[in-house]
Amino acid sequence: MSLHNNIYIGDCRIILKDFPEDFFSACITDPPYNYEFIGHKWDTDEIKRRTERVKNSSTLVKNIPYGSGLAGGVRNARWYAKVRKNILEYEQWCFDWAIQVFRVCKPGAPVAVFNSTRTMAHVQVALERAGFYTRDCLVYRRSSGIPKGLNLKNALKQRSLSYYQEWEGWHSCLRNEWEAVVLVQKPLMNNYLDTFLEYGVGLFYTKNEDGSFQSNIIENTRRDYGEQHQVHCTAKPLSLMEKLVTMLVPPSKDHIVLDPFAGSGSTLVAAKKLGRSYVGIEIVPEYAKLIEDRLNKVEDSNNHM
Ligand SMILES: C[S@@+](CC[C@H](N)C(=O)[O-])C[C@H]1O[C@@H](n2cnc3c(N)ncnc32)[C@H](O)[C@@H]1O
Repeated sequence: MSLHNNIYIGDCRIILKDFPEDFFSACITDPPYNYEFIGHKWDTDEIKRRTERVKNSSTLVKNIPYGSGLAGGVRNARWYAKVRKNILEYEQWCFDWAIQVFRVCKPGAPVAVFNSTRTMAHVQVALERAGFYTRDCLVYRRSSGIPKGLNLKNALKQRSLSYYQEWEGWHSCLRNEWEAVVLVQKPLMNNYLDTFLEYGVGLFYTKNEDGSFQSNIIENTRRDYGEQHQVHCTAKPLSLMEKLVTMLVPPSKDHIVLDPFAGSGSTLVAAKKLGRSYVGIEIVPEYAKLIEDRLNKVEDSNNHM
């Protein structure tokens, strides 16, 4: 079996060890953000611990893990000590896969990693520790819901405090309207031109359809309402992934893009649609089946490339 255009089932930290070095032209991926829904967590022991913790609580939002910072409850120093420990474990976990991604990427390969605005710094540090250097942080601007935090006016009113109206508009959080895409690069072979001539990578496609120069803010992406959203709770819009593939992977089947956290396969579907090769890794077997079904439905638009 050839390596490319396949999906591998298992933990990417282990599977990547068998892949050759300097192999992939790019990596575009969306790992768990450390506060996803219980049942889709990055660490099974941690899922168990958090599920137990929230089971009988009346103050915590049930489908969001304790320690996520999204749930209600205390925010004291003891709470923060636990969160801090957890985020450092998450950073180490990111380092464990980043070091493998580093090995399998070609010199000059761009690596784009989605993350939340609160955890992206840790992901970036882990990627840098693995050997990459930071190029940018792309903003994926998406539609957002109403914040779930504390509305001070309502909370004071519930306690029948007469001055509650003075606190109209005060809230415990801002409306979260963007996600980060940490963009790093494996060091070049000397410079851009030498790297391009040797490995065919290292630069970004910057010409938009309307002729404008690509910005580091990606917005106005279309939402999908396909089957993947019923099966996978964090599927990214296909148009967003197509934008990233176009920007980061040169247009040829010779270029293989890696997604070690494939989920419902949006990166791989975008790559296939746009005539690039791909490799996906996903730890949950039922998602791998969903990816295969999605890929089978894609008409390969660039068979001749
Ligand atoms: C945020 S989702 C990716 C969603 C994807 N971008 C999409 O559009 O469908 C992260 C995925 O990584 C998977 N995952 C978590 N830990 C993993 C690991 N160690 N190795 C491989 N996959 C893992 C999860 O099962 C989940 O499907």
